[in-house]
Amino acid sequence: MEYRLEIWRQENSESPGRFQTILYQTGDDRETVATALTNINNTPGMKDINGNPVGEIGWECSCLQKKCGACAVVINGTPGLACDSFLRTYKKKKSIKIAPLSKFPLIRDLWVDRTILRENLKELGLTAAGDFVFTKKNNDIAFESSKCLQCGCCLEVCPNYVPDGKFFGAAGYAPETKFLTSLSPEEIKRLKPAYMTHIYSGCGKSLACKDICPAGIDMDRLLSRSNAVAVWRKKI
Ligand code: SF4
Ligand code: SF4
Ligand code: FES
Repeated sequence: MEYRLEIWRQENSESPGRFQTILYQTGDDRETVATALTNINNTPGMKDINGNPVGEIGWECSCLQKKCGACAVVINGTPGLACDSFLRTYKKKKSIKIAPLSKFPLIRDLWVDRTILRENLKELGLTAAGDFVFTKKNNDIAFESSKCLQCGCCLEVCPNYVPDGKFFGAAGYAPETKFLTSLSPEEIKRLKPAYMTHIYSGCGKSLACKDICPAGIDMDRLLSRSNAVAVWRKKI
């Protein structure tokens, strides 16, 4: 099978970018976009359709098992994980267009800088580790919240998220809900102004984030529970 891959190439955030077209051959229908990118990078002397050298494609991956979120890219206009996007699903398409997530600063090609996601959690007064206790009561909602991969796909489709804006989007409230479940009433009171600014006031509840989330997070459930705790000070 031959796939026509159009891959975004850009040296750095300041340089001009363009799609480079590669005809990629494979006999294995279990191959994903991540496998194709790996194979292209591991094939010395690869040429594009115009006979130009392809050169190493900048992109990020780690687990290759849909568990870390590192490989998120935009494929034919839809954000998703490269390691969970099978080439065979695009068989009937003329080409597979692979672009970087557009709401993060570009590092190179398909590789973006998602440091802002960690910074946003810090801004809410929460860190990825510590400050959290699993209890019988919060177990269920905290587990759902823990599924967030911090991939950033939700921000790509969120109509209200703009880079450098005040609103943090689902990538902010999905992981923070678990921390809310184990904070004391005093700590929640302290956190409320930041929550109002960065989560509650910005979300239009369109739930585009729910449809796209590769972790399948039950976004409306998390959002209503985190609002209940942070805004109306109800217990989870
Ligand atoms: S909420 Fe879903 S789409 Fe958004 S960062 Fe977390 S895992 Fe990714
Ligand atoms: S519900 Fe809508 S506005 Fe709120 S985070 Fe999700 S996509 Fe964005
Ligand atoms: S490489 Fe970890 S989710 Fe794709």
